[in-house]
Amino acid sequence: MSDDTKSERPSKSAASAMWGGRFAQGPAAVMEAINASINIDQRMAEEDIAGSLAHAAMLGATGVISSDDSATIQRGLEHVRDEIRAGELQWSPALEDVHMNIEARLKEVIGDAAGRLHTARSRNDQVATDFRLWLRSACDRIDVMLVDYQRALVAQAEEHVDQVMPGFTHLQTAQPVSLAHHLLSYVELAERDRGRFADARRRLNESPLGCAALAGTAFPIDRDMTSKSLGFDRPMGNSLDGVAARDFALEVLSAASICAVNLSRFADEIVLWCTRRFGFASLSDAWSTGSSIMPQKRNPDAAELVRAKPGRIIGSLTGLLTVMKGLPLAYSKDLQEDKAPTFQAIDDLELALLAMAGMAGDLTFNGAAMEAAAGEAYSDATDLADWVVRELDKPFRDAHHISGSIVKAAEDRNVTLSDLPLKVMQSVEPGIDERIFSVLSARASMESRTSYGGTSPVRVREQVAAWKLRLSAGES
Ligand code: ARG
Repeated sequence: MSDDTKSERPSKSAASAMWGGRFAQGPAAVMEAINASINIDQRMAEEDIAGSLAHAAMLGATGVISSDDSATIQRGLEHVRDEIRAGELQWSPALEDVHMNIEARLKEVIGDAAGRLHTARSRNDQVATDFRLWLRSACDRIDVMLVDYQRALVAQAEEHVDQVMPGFTHLQTAQPVSLAHHLLSYVELAERDRGRFADARRRLNESPLGCAALAGTAFPIDRDMTSKSLGFDRPMGNSLDGVAARDFALEVLSAASICAVNLSRFADEIVLWCTRRFGFASLSDAWSTGSSIMPQKRNPDAAELVRAKPGRIIGSLTGLLTVMKGLPLAYSKDLQEDKAPTFQAIDDLELALLAMAGMAGDLTFNGAAMEAAAGEAYSDATDLADWVVRELDKPFRDAHHISGSIVKAAEDRNVTLSDLPLKVMQSVEPGIDERIFSVLSARASMESRTSYGGTSPVRVREQVAAWKLRLSAGES
């Protein structure tokens, strides 16, 4: 706000054209500033015009307004839409929001017939309709981005089914796994994200249009007609709920928050893997940044930013939950505070998804480093225990103890299990024989885990094939 608007006094002549009848004066400058949402909700201009076109057509078809007026209004709306698309419409904060800006422009374009568009509707059902339409498109865009991300992961997985790497628990080397298996775990996670957005989309796809201010309308409107023409599944059954509910936005923000958290986990692994310490992977120049002071640096900034995005996205969810808490029925202006955090969260998530798909495809893996690390830290100790169970028919708990003692003996000598002399193992468990060495390697360990969902390349190859089929068919 500029200094002169601050000192501006409410003027009589500025009384609103939309509700001027009841008002002698225009708003105080700060009133206008706190009230205006046009800078935010102009993003829903397409949805607003789509809703108005559907409403105008319905008003004409039901005889609530004449078909001439209906046609004039629809033509006028299309004209305004063209102006908006061309960036020609001057948005005015004095006209508060996208709905009134568009209606005011419509009036300039077609004259008095514009005044009939708002028959049997209110900005309350209008904004709820626009917002649902906007979020429905957002869910659809995000679904496409999630699939792109999955495809990038599956393509990498296909190349690395036989690549052994350390699997971690507690970020401590645990058991060897296939790199493809690791990557496919994120494909599974992304699939559930898709499911969450699809669920939210399904529930939000109901039409509030015609709920009017809160109580419905006395005009003989056809809500099925507007619902259908806007691609909604049905009109909402309760007019109070139609204008008051924002749980649909909360659901999308919840899905966005979970998705962002999920992305942040792989993002963090990219950061770790690209360190000198891990040395498992690297990103090309396209996905790296330099340091302004340290010439040698290659930083995975995009991965760090994706790791950070949940801060903003969860903030949006928390922000809107807080706005909604304790809000009485039906519409209150508080609800205008729903859009800024939601748009912000969706923008952030879309960028994060694009970045993750890009990085997932860009990563180059250092197979030798991964394989070497996979063989470290006694990652085959479970295989030794399993062998004792299988071949010597010991209870697993006893075998665990035997393997632990052998690991300790190897650690004391600073050698791997496969380099430990057989007689040292036999001093712990006399039944162990030279067949034990066939299970003592990272690769053998990985290959042995053939249970369904396990990391053996045999199983992982099946999963890669299944995902390829599923993602190419565009199934969900
Ligand atoms: N800009 C408003 C919003 O986003 C539109 C609805 C205004 N309704 C009202 N009764 N003042 O919520």
